[in-house]
Amino acid sequence: MKRIFLSLAIGITALVTIQCKHETDFTDFPVNPELPIPSATCSDDTVYFVNSVLPLLKSSCAMQGCHDMGTAEHGIILTDYYRIKITGRVKPGSSGNSLLYKVLSRNGESGMPPSGYPEFSAEQKAIVAKWIDQGAIYNYCSEACNPDNFAFSADIFPLISANCKGCHSGNDPSGGVRLENYTTIKAAADNNSLYGSVAWLSGYSPMPKDGFRLTDCNITQIKNWIDNGAPNN
Ligand code: HEC
Repeated sequence: MKRIFLSLAIGITALVTIQCKHETDFTDFPVNPELPIPSATCSDDTVYFVNSVLPLLKSSCAMQGCHDMGTAEHGIILTDYYRIKITGRVKPGSSGNSLLYKVLSRNGESGMPPSGYPEFSAEQKAIVAKWIDQGAIYNYCSEACNPDNFAFSADIFPLISANCKGCHSGNDPSGGVRLENYTTIKAAADNNSLYGSVAWLSGYSPMPKDGFRLTDCNITQIKNWIDNGAPNN
């Protein structure tokens, strides 16, 4: 009998602790948590949080006035792994039961991003769903990036779409700068602000705003593309 009481007491304590944890503990998570150790190869079948999910959510949702730390609209903060998982009510293995995916797929919850911002493409929604269904883990891969690959459509455009487009598109692009297609990206290349901002040169606002600096290899790809006349190739 004593035993049963004891396990009951432990059980209740654990339950209460878990529930309180939800409320309190996550404020202790670092604002810019350390990145996980990357795997040396990127598997085509895996969605990697740091490579694909984080840049997408940071640039499409974690803007000022929306789901950044300061605004935390509806209590949802999408700036880093821990806050995305907890406040986005991500249920590892089940995108269908995860608030984060439900709003993107407009499934029984209010749809996000709200009107005025572009809806996620089918491909972007699939990235988030697959990451959750694969366990919503803090994973990262670093396949050798080649700075000599700098074609606009294969290298530069996907890079900018993943890391910049969310803030720099829609009705009210950040800083009045649009980075949605070749014409607008080329304009930023021509006035030097594209390279100045990604290389964090003085005199330019460092980009991505409030995010990780792009890798040196990615920055070199952008530089090489610009130095070669920023062609639409
Ligand atoms: C979270 C939102 C956000 C993301 C992501 C973001 N930007 Fe910005 N960007 C801004 C804001 C806001 C400004 C206006 C200046 C400021 O507030 O620093 C800006 C300004 C700029 C400017 C003008 C800077 C200047 O000094 O003239 C350029 C160019 C730019 N961004 C490029 C980029 C590129 C390239 C990326 C992706 C690598 C990117 N941004 C990602 C929010 C963002």
